[in-house]
Order: sequence, then structure tokens, then C-alpha cells
Amino acid sequence: MEKYSFTQPPHPYWLASTSDTDYPVLDRDVKVDVAIIGGGITGITCAYLLKKAGLSVAIIEADRLAQGATGHTTAKITSQHGLIYNKIKKQMGMEAAQQYADANEQAIREIAGIIEEKKIDCDFSHQTAYVYTERDDYVQEIETEAKLAQELGIEADVTTEIALPIKIKAAVSFDKQAQFHPRKYLLTLAKDIPDDNSYIFTQSRVVDIDDENNYLLKTAEGKKVAADKVIIASHYPCYNKAGLYFARLFPHRSYVLAVKTREAYPGGMYITAEEPGRSFRSLPTEEGEMIMIGGEHHKTGQGADTRQHYQNLAAYAQEVYPDAEIHYRWSTQDYLTPDQIPYAGYFLPSTPNLFLATGFRRWGMTNSMVSAMIIRDLIVSGESPWQNLYDPSRQTIAASSKTFIVENLNVANQLLKGKLSAAPADPTDADIETGEAKVIMIDGDKVGAYRDEQGTLHLVDTTCTHLGCELKWNAAEKSWDCPCHGSRFTYEGEIIEGPTVKPLKTGKEQID
Ligand code: FES
Repeated sequence: MEKYSFTQPPHPYWLASTSDTDYPVLDRDVKVDVAIIGGGITGITCAYLLKKAGLSVAIIEADRLAQGATGHTTAKITSQHGLIYNKIKKQMGMEAAQQYADANEQAIREIAGIIEEKKIDCDFSHQTAYVYTERDDYVQEIETEAKLAQELGIEADVTTEIALPIKIKAAVSFDKQAQFHPRKYLLTLAKDIPDDNSYIFTQSRVVDIDDENNYLLKTAEGKKVAADKVIIASHYPCYNKAGLYFARLFPHRSYVLAVKTREAYPGGMYITAEEPGRSFRSLPTEEGEMIMIGGEHHKTGQGADTRQHYQNLAAYAQEVYPDAEIHYRWSTQDYLTPDQIPYAGYFLPSTPNLFLATGFRRWGMTNSMVSAMIIRDLIVSGESPWQNLYDPSRQTIAASSKTFIVENLNVANQLLKGKLSAAPADPTDADIETGEAKVIMIDGDKVGAYRDEQGTLHLVDTTCTHLGCELKWNAAEKSWDCPCHGSRFTYEGEIIEGPTVKPLKTGKEQID
């Protein structure tokens, strides 16, 4: 399979080009107006806006700031989220499409305004964004989307040519969109948060939310944050007591390469209308300009050997740019909702002080800002112009019942398949090569075994600690991934991302 050999493990440019943050671990109990679980773009933006509105805030992040989905994004700041507007209009009506356009166009202006006001050096540039097709049967859809976008007040147009070396049939363009370096932006923004009874705590995982008297967040180390209001901005809600979010958020992974070519990049951000999805944007780096090429999305923990996705992208990059040299590669995880609109607002209609922001599909830069504005407005003034459209309890979730049923049948199927799948009986250690992982049977139990480069065998219980699905090996990222709701673990059993809050059992002793 390895036509293209990658000498380095996946690592995003955003993390390679910025330093780790060193905000403290939560080592004492604190009390704030608003506690925010998650220190990615949504959590940091919520904290920034709320502190500006005069409230004290605390971000509590399980890892370090902006390391998860935010550190692995393609960082396109756009209101063009594929061919979304006709879908929204058909599903929810013209007013909903107008609200989505207004909210996301406003988000672009807000981010640009913050960067301008604070003079943040984050490689921000305005770009034109294109959705293009190479197929005749998508031309009509592209034209309809452009016409609707114009009606919604977006500076949109149709073209039959783009500046990339790709022959297209049609494209819809949106002007005044943008791109940036997300960590350069967010790490600067975060500096404004600690002070005046506001805090950022990292490497502090919230494992429980006690809602008896106001809210009390408890970390794995037993420290507490008391808050009048809580925002769950941790990508997938870690609060499982209500809401059935595990049944209405669907995890997907996708892949990116950063390549260097002799050909100068013409500018613009591009994405295909059809499958397989492919996207392009420029990447200014200290090593010169590169081109980011993305795509290959699939359900987490399902489908082909994940290394094949990098191979497919590499083959595509060299088809478009024959001299392309790959300098960086990485993958990310996004959550989808049944109607493709994010969840931002009250966690439940009955929780006026508990908020949620997630389900951004692959459009987290603008949708995180929209979510932060909605939640800020709900907290500060009790209403937002976009609260109904983004309401996590909206009726259209029920109306999208076909997607809902199909996705949940898929989860049930994965659960069953995992439990029934056979594993080799009593293989010896010698069956597992260096860098390889297998699920094996030890004394009748299924155990995930990975042999590292030093020859050490790492054993984990492959039962997901969230709701018990069987994990699948992700060979590209060397992780154990859950096909049901997307929890991911290192080969040593540590949590990479939730919804789980418990690491895997490790070693034969504990597994017994
Ligand atoms: Fe829910 Fe694994 S993430 S069972």
C-alpha cells in the first residue's frame, strides 16, 4: 500500500510553528460567573467575548490550549460551507438560510475586526472561496446555489474557470472570505483572559458536572470550579446525564497535506461539490509558501486502513502538482448533526444556565464565532437573532429523522459487529511486528496489542470506556478509535478525545 513513504508521523503545521502553552493545572477550587469546558476556538472565543462583556470566566481544558480539532483544522474563515444554502432552504425555509448566511458573514467580520483591533499577526488574508465541480450533473446545483447566495446578500458569482490547474465545469465563488493561522490568532486572544478573577486552566479534565446548586465542575484530580453558568465547548459534550447527544452527533475524520511546488499558488480557497472531497488553500510558512490539500473524510473508526487516506491524498496532490513535495500531513475529527446546522445555545430547554456549542461539520472557524456570539447574547441579554436556527433542541432534528435513524443504526451495527468479530486465538507476541497492532485474545478477553519501535508491546482493553463499543486500530495516527461516537485513545490507553472521560484499562493485570 505504501506507494508514498512518509518519514515523519502526522503533525499539523499549526502546532509545529507555534509553542505549547503553559497555563496552570487547576490546583485549587475557584468560583466564576461562567465556566467553559474546552480550550479550543469555541471556548477561547466564548471566554474572550464574555470577559469583554464584564463577566468572570474560567476555561478548563483537558489538554493544552488549541491542540485538538482547532490545532488540526484547515482554518478557512468562510460562510461558504459546501453547497449548504439550498439544503437549508429546502429543509428549513428561506428565513433559516438567511439567518445562516447573516450569522456566518457576521462571524467573518467579527474575526477580521478582532485581528484588526488587536493587531494580531496571524497570517490573516481575505480570499475568494470557491465550490467547484468537474461533473456535468453538479452544474445546475452550483448555479442554483450562486443565485440563492446572491439573494441572501452574499457577494457570490458563477464561473466556469478557476486558477488551479484543474478543468472544471462550474464553480460558485464567494468574495471577502478569509484564511489565517488559527493558533497564532487564538494564543494571542487567550492572553487577555487570565486576570480579574478570570482563569485558564489546562491539563485539567472535567469528569463530572454537579448541577444540584448552580454548577460545580469536578476535575479528575478532585478540584472544583463553581459557576453560575457553564458552557460545554469540548467538541463532544462530556455531560451525559441528558440530551441524548451521543445519538445525534456523528464523528468524521478527514486529512490534509501541506505541499511545496515550483508553481506559484494563484490565491483562493477551493473545495469540490462532489465526492471524493478535495480542498485547496495556500499556507504561508517560514519555509516559503505551501499549498494545503485536504479531503478523504470518513466515519471515525470505520472503513479502510487509515494510512490509505494519506496515500490517496498524496497521489492526488502529485496528479495536480507533479513536483509536489509533502512537508506536513495531519488529520482531524469533526462532528456532524442530522440537519448539518451546529448546536449552539441552551443544552436543553430546561437548562437556562447550561450551554452547548458543537457539531460544526467541517466549518468550525466561522461556526465557533457564531456559537460564541449566540451564547454570549443569551447570557448577557437573554436572546440572539440566530438562537432558533442553532437551538440544540430544534424541531428540525426530528424532521431529519432519516439521517438520525440511519446514523444510529450504523452505531448499533458497529456495537454488534465489534462484539461478534473474531480475534486470533492465543497468538504469540511474535505475531505482532514493530509498528503494528492487532486485537488478540488473552484468556478469553479481547485485547488491543501494539508493538512500538523499541519492541515494547502495549496492551489495552479495546472496549470503549464511553458506552462499550469495540475500538478499531487507526494505523495512520497509531490510536484506538471508537466507531460509535468517536472517542480516541493512544496505544497506551490515554484519552486523545472524548466523549469518554475515562482512559482504557491497560496491561494484562488490569484487564483481568
Ligand atoms: Fe461512545 Fe465509544 S465513544 S461507545
